[in-house]
Amino acid sequence: MADRQAPAESTSIVPRVQLIDLLNEDLSREYQAIIAYVVYSQVLKGAQYMAIAGELEKHAKEELEHALIIAKQIDYLGGMPNVTSKAVKTSEDAEEMLRFDLDNENETVRNYRERVRQCEALGEYAMAEHIREILVQEQEHQIDLATALGKHVAEVTHPKERG
Ligand SMILES: [Fe+2]
Ligand SMILES: [Fe+2]
Repeated sequence: MADRQAPAESTSIVPRVQLIDLLNEDLSREYQAIIAYVVYSQVLKGAQYMAIAGELEKHAKEELEHALIIAKQIDYLGGMPNVTSKAVKTSEDAEEMLRFDLDNENETVRNYRERVRQCEALGEYAMAEHIREILVQEQEHQIDLATALGKHVAEVTHPKERG
């Protein structure tokens, strides 16, 4: 019987039940993203934001696809997909809205990178692959938002934080 514990420092190794909880957190972030993009894409005003408003509308649809994929993985693991969104911030200010979106995408990317490692550690390679595909789109969302905010993409995708 394999009863050895994972080494304490390998934070990527989580039991299957904990993976369900983590995926439910991811699902809540996807719901949050859907709501934010539905609203922001319609209320962003100003000629300079017309192009990004169109992009946000596409993001909304992609986030719905992500939610469906994540819910499917939770069900596959024997969990129940949750029905609660993370809180959505609102603002009258266009730039602030975009910054909220970018902060959320950064958080999402951080989590999915970790989730890919966790799935692989459990031998869930197909699940890791699904999450990788989502990750590709989340990084595109980051780039769209960073560009709209006039930031260099590398500032966002390769932050000088954590080691
Ligand atoms: Fe997403
Ligand atoms: Fe996204």
